[in-house]
Amino acid sequence: MAKSEVKTSLLDNMIGVGDSVLLEPLTEHTFLENLKKRFDHSEIYTYIGSVVISVNPYRHLPIYTPEKVEEYRNRNFYELSPHIYALADEAYRSLRDQDKDQCILITGESGAGKTEASKLVMSYVAAVCGKGAEVNQVKEQLLQSNPVLEAFGNAKTMRNDNSSRFGKYMDIEFDFKGDPLGGVISNYLLEKSRVVKQPRDERNFHIFYQLLSGGSEDLLKRLKLERDFKQYNYLGLDSAEVNGMDDAANFRTVKNAMQIVGFMDDEAESVLEVVAAVLKLGNIEFKPESRVNGLDESRIQDKNELKEICELLGQDQAVLERAFSFRTVEAKQEKVSTTLNVAQAYYARDALAKNLYNRLFTWLVNRINESIKAQTKVRKKVMGVLDIYGFEIFENNSFEQFIINYCNEKLQQIFIELTLKEEQEEYIKEGIEWTHIEYFNNAIICELIENNTNGILAMLDEECLRPGTVTDETFLEKLNQVCAIHERFESRMSKSSRFLNDTTLPHNCFRIQHYAGKVMYHVEGFVDKNNDLLYRDLSQAMWKTNHMLVKALFPEGNPAKMSLKRPPTAGSQFKASVTTLMKNLQTKNPNYIRCIKPNDQKAPHAFTEALVCHQVRYLGLMENVRVRRAGYAFKQPYESCLERYKMLCSQTWPHWRQGTRDGVKVLLTELRIPAEEFSYGRSKIFIRNPRTLFELEDLRKRRLEDLATLIQKIYRGWKCRTNFLLLKKSQTTISAWTRRHFQRKKYLHLKSVTVLIQSYIRGWKARKLLRELKHQKRCEESATTIAAYWRGTQARKDLRRLKEAARRKHAIAVIWAYWLGYEVRREYRKFFRANAGRKIYEFTIQRIMQKYFLELKKKLPSQSPTERTWPARPYLFLDNTHTELKRIFHLWRCKEYRDQFTEQKTAIFEEKLEASELFKDKKALYTNSVRQPFHGDYLEISKNPKYQKLNGAVEEKIVLADVVNKINRANGKRALRIFVLTKSKFIIADQKSGQIKSTIPVMDITSVSVSKQTDGLFAIHLKEGSTAAAKGDFLFTSDRLIEIITKLYRTIFFKTNQKINVEINNEFLVQFNQDKVCVKFIQGAQKNGNLPACKRKNNRLLEVTVP
Ligand SMILES: Nc1ncnc2c1ncn2[C@@H]1O[C@H](COP(=O)(O)OP(=O)(O)O)[C@@H](O)[C@H]1O
Ligand SMILES: [Mg+2]
Repeated sequence: MAKSEVKTSLLDNMIGVGDSVLLEPLTEHTFLENLKKRFDHSEIYTYIGSVVISVNPYRHLPIYTPEKVEEYRNRNFYELSPHIYALADEAYRSLRDQDKDQCILITGESGAGKTEASKLVMSYVAAVCGKGAEVNQVKEQLLQSNPVLEAFGNAKTMRNDNSSRFGKYMDIEFDFKGDPLGGVISNYLLEKSRVVKQPRDERNFHIFYQLLSGGSEDLLKRLKLERDFKQYNYLGLDSAEVNGMDDAANFRTVKNAMQIVGFMDDEAESVLEVVAAVLKLGNIEFKPESRVNGLDESRIQDKNELKEICELLGQDQAVLERAFSFRTVEAKQEKVSTTLNVAQAYYARDALAKNLYNRLFTWLVNRINESIKAQTKVRKKVMGVLDIYGFEIFENNSFEQFIINYCNEKLQQIFIELTLKEEQEEYIKEGIEWTHIEYFNNAIICELIENNTNGILAMLDEECLRPGTVTDETFLEKLNQVCAIHERFESRMSKSSRFLNDTTLPHNCFRIQHYAGKVMYHVEGFVDKNNDLLYRDLSQAMWKTNHMLVKALFPEGNPAKMSLKRPPTAGSQFKASVTTLMKNLQTKNPNYIRCIKPNDQKAPHAFTEALVCHQVRYLGLMENVRVRRAGYAFKQPYESCLERYKMLCSQTWPHWRQGTRDGVKVLLTELRIPAEEFSYGRSKIFIRNPRTLFELEDLRKRRLEDLATLIQKIYRGWKCRTNFLLLKKSQTTISAWTRRHFQRKKYLHLKSVTVLIQSYIRGWKARKLLRELKHQKRCEESATTIAAYWRGTQARKDLRRLKEAARRKHAIAVIWAYWLGYEVRREYRKFFRANAGRKIYEFTIQRIMQKYFLELKKKLPSQSPTERTWPARPYLFLDNTHTELKRIFHLWRCKEYRDQFTEQKTAIFEEKLEASELFKDKKALYTNSVRQPFHGDYLEISKNPKYQKLNGAVEEKIVLADVVNKINRANGKRALRIFVLTKSKFIIADQKSGQIKSTIPVMDITSVSVSKQTDGLFAIHLKEGSTAAAKGDFLFTSDRLIEIITKLYRTIFFKTNQKINVEINNEFLVQFNQDKVCVKFIQGAQKNGNLPACKRKNNRLLEVTVP
């Protein structure tokens, strides 16, 4: 059996009627009563056919939960009680499955719930369409565009705390699967006048308050703002704070939303800068100043505010100031500059603020579009959501109302067109004859407003562009001439005398009979608002800024692009965008949501009938119902109809096996319903009067009751019988089971008793047998045991005897041995006493020494001559031996060490030893030298071609060759020299060229002097009178001082067999020419590393600064 699904219908449990088309009789009164009844029962949605009427509940209703979304998902429109979700679902499925682009048109007056409705539709679609990371991001961006636009485009008004002050149309784009790809937003006519002035008890746009309340101290400081609303003239103070609205929290939401939508941080900052600048513009005040020529001029009162604005906008202050004081008019080639008076200056200021904000808003919309636009080029399906201002009839209606109402006329027009078209198409499809329907077509009103030659908008444009003085009055005069005869136009001054005496129509007004009622417009401000003038000086000033965003907002300020042509007027711009919108909507399948505001107090549960009646009228809802039920009030597919009413006819109940159309025919014929009440379409039955439908419903209800009784009766009988049969069956089963149970119990008892008796008897028999067997066995065993015991006793007796004999023999041997021992000891005692003591002593000593040497051998330290350790002495009496052994061992290992030396190495060590003797503990430099090997020949003169000549002159083997510093005797300066020492002489040569400077035989050297410090200065003293000593002693410095002097000392010793004197002192004398000069070492800071600094102080003193 197929899964039976409970088919529900809109008609189930209806409060009033869920679809107004079913109202009977249909009057305005019953219509309102129905709405009220439903509203009182929290049913805020009611249909007119496929149109949803939504009455704002002004309270949270639990009908937007995820469960509700699931309930309405994939259900037919009339299956459940009316809900905005049903419409959204229908639209979405039609888009996804039938590939029809959709638009959702939401109308109603301010506060009626349009914006909420549009958000509900969007959130429903978001909930039911595809999922996945990418799709979710698109959804999130689309949804988050709302808070941003609301912050900048919404404001608190008398009617609505969050009123949208702009029209919004959003196309949501989907791919073939129905997953969202992106969107495009269009905005219409922001109410920019609100920026500079708000009606009483209303607020400026939310963003201003949000910024001041929610901006961090740091941000406000950057924007040069103060937190206090009172500081700003543009912020109406009447209701700066709105109940239940947390501006600061909203500011965070907006910033977050901007981030999600994709604004860069610096973009967001730029936007806020413009907002701050607009706010501050309101604080610029002007004062009059009379000029000699009698003209009034204006001056800015406090330039500080202007300065800050210019800083915010990256403006030149002088440029902006000038733009507030002058106006340049250009005509052909001429440029005329006129000064502005105070009123004009204020006008210019406000115009700038309004324009700046309006353009910023448009920029925001474009910027959001850039972020949310679909990334692919594949064909897209589109769902448009239009949230636009509804009809407005105020006490004082101006240009804005005129424009808004014009837009609504257009919407009504396409509503009529599309509804009728749809209705007609259905009739044709179903093959039912189309009867002409009388309805009011508002094309004539649209014509009155938008006709290109004599429409009101065209007249207004013509007036605005005309040379000469143009005022609102001249405009009205013109209207009076051109439109007077129009049947929908009323004016007091029109030549037609119809309204000459109508005192309800003032002279400065005209009245239009809109489809939704008459509206009287005051002409004041029409011309100005249509012109929407911003002095060119201001736009040029704005363009000159280096603030990229502001510059982009005023492209016309670019002198290169300047044109003398006037920008299009506000009216013609709006008309153009409305035309585009209408064209767009006409290509789509429309879905209507008509919002109604139940009271003016924003209060829940209150339903002001007069107010609703007014809205019902101007929304044309009655008209709507009439069109819907023009031919037939109700239509339904045959399947649904048969399913619902098949119980009313015996032939169709419970099953009808043939075609559903025939089934319905049989059903209706049997019910004797008059034939004119029906038409049979191809797939649907059309019912002319709601009354008939309700009769059917009544019959169904009664029949259902009967059926219920019948079902109940049969069910009860069946239940009782089933119960009885069950009882009977159970009883039999139970008794069978009981009997079986008792028999079984008895049998088991008998069985166990038998087994018990059996086992006792078997046990007794077995024990008897066992006893007999045991006795037999014991008799056999006892004989063997007795024999064994007897043999044992005999054997033990023999053993005892043998043991006794052996013990006696042994005792005799022991006693004999003792006796012999005693005899021998007595004999030898006398010999033993003479020698044994010494022998034992020597033996002991020998053992000890042997042990000592063996252990020492094991513990000997390493062979290194520098090793100092020696094992501890084991016995006190070996003290001297131990020390001696240590000394001998040391000498031996030193010898071993020396024996390894080659001759060359011995020489090196001798040299090192010599150096040690000469300098150790005497000169501080010595310690450094210990580690340095003494190479001697550092220059390898023989191999260096540069020193060829020098090499030639040396002849002998080189002992040492190195570069040293020679100290000038006269001034203490240093010069690099080659120092070569051979066996018999030393040579001083130029370091660069190798040119020999002096050759001194070593025999001429008497002594050498050095300091005690770490420096490398040394003096070589020469024999007085020798040729070498002509100029005096030599002073050198070298890092290898120790090596040089050691080698010199040894060379001289080998040559002369004499040891020269090496003087180590911090003060010594040298012989320079004829003078004896004292070389004195002093401690001081060092400039050039380790090199000593020498300074010739006077004739007698040369000071050497050492570290
Ligand atoms: N379906 C609804 N459920 C609960 N409150 C609603 C609903 N529709 C509107 N409202 C309330 O009415 C206020 C005005 O609605 P809004 O959509 O902003 O009006 P409009 O856009 O038509 O001017 C909202 O702020 C909200 O408090
Ligand atoms: Mg709104």
